[in-house]
Amino acid sequence: MDNFVYEYLVRVCFGKDCVRQHLRQLLECCWETVLLAYGGGSVRKNGIYDQIMGELKAADKSVVEFAGIMPNPTYAKVQEGATLVRENHVDFILAVGGGSVIDCCKIVAAQAKSSQDIWEMEFTDHRYPQEWVPMGAVVTASGTGAEMNNGAVITNEDKKVKAGLLGAYADFALLDPASTLSLPMGQVISGAFDTLSHCMETYFEKLDHVILSDEISEAVMRNVIRNLRILTENPQDMEARNELMWASAMGENGILKIGEVTDFQAHQMEHQLGAYTDCNHGQGLAVIHPVLYRHIYENNIGRFARFACEVWGISPKGKTEQELALAGIDALTDFIKEVGLPTTLTEIGITDEGILKAVADTCNITAGCCKKLTCDEIFEILKECV
Ligand code: NZQ
Ligand code: ZN
Repeated sequence: MDNFVYEYLVRVCFGKDCVRQHLRQLLECCWETVLLAYGGGSVRKNGIYDQIMGELKAADKSVVEFAGIMPNPTYAKVQEGATLVRENHVDFILAVGGGSVIDCCKIVAAQAKSSQDIWEMEFTDHRYPQEWVPMGAVVTASGTGAEMNNGAVITNEDKKVKAGLLGAYADFALLDPASTLSLPMGQVISGAFDTLSHCMETYFEKLDHVILSDEISEAVMRNVIRNLRILTENPQDMEARNELMWASAMGENGILKIGEVTDFQAHQMEHQLGAYTDCNHGQGLAVIHPVLYRHIYENNIGRFARFACEVWGISPKGKTEQELALAGIDALTDFIKEVGLPTTLTEIGITDEGILKAVADTCNITAGCCKKLTCDEIFEILKECV
């Protein structure tokens, strides 16, 4: 296992009614002006906006609203938020939404404290924000685990790049699984697949060791598979929602990455696909993962065979290591179909080879993948996804 430093900065309040139980108290002691950030309006329809506004008023806060944060948030939206923070002397940001709202706010928080363009700071100067406006997150859609870390995936439309920036850590995250009840089932499923993807991206690293992080990851993967099956049968099953929301947080709180060299090649491909097509994150991943894995499994065949046994419960009896590895990838594909996720890019309206070539040519290639891909290989994989 590699040396590591693990520190956890986010206070997590989890469970039914946690907003009512904790939000006022968390805000009461400090801060005067709160930026209330949310997306395209779901929070107004499901009552979460009214509830939070009530808590903010009761805590005697001035509120500045920052609405309309879109899925796959843009860099222009980040700049709009940072301007609002500066102009209104906001001293706390409350992100209410899924990964998109939370990510946007992490960078708003950092940009508001810096006179330098943050994209330039990170991608040209390779410097990272050391200060930010404090923020908190009320999670209404789980899967990304965005509330648990300071990474933020932002689409720079001018540069045609969707990439991860580093920004603020939330001081606190409130996770009430009941707030996901209004989420369309398609988004619940794609969010849960994102969690599964985060586990796989760490599990299929290039190192061939099995350490505690891998075994915890296997448990999280089994948990997501089991509970997503339960929830697709019965969307009202609150235990399954509880488990999926916490699994999402576990996927991105750093524990699974301790001592690992992470891969995240599927994410890099999906993000760049998102830059060109604005596709749904979890759906894009569902298409890419099995195709990518058929290309790379021979470079870490033991791990893929283990995945088949430990995650999918496939018996090794009578199978070669290769057969076992492929059976695990087949089980993943079958699961994707079973829960109603797409298995081809055609199903999500992406067929243009020119776009796929542009995605492949601009895709980040990660050092952690068990096979270091070339742009040509990524293009082949994407064409196979169609
Ligand atoms: O905008 P509103 O009206 O709120 O609707 C949203 C949005 O349309 C809706 N929604 C959210 N909560 C709801 C709800 N609708 C009804 N009831 C609720 N309770 O759901 C739609 C999708 O929301 P979004 O936040 O985009 O989804 P998700 O949480 O999947 O976030 C995706 C973004 O996170 C990034 C992705 O790349 C993508 O940009 N990621 C962030 C990560 C991180 N920071 O750690 C890791 C991930 O790998 C991922 O890349
Ligand atoms: Zn993801």
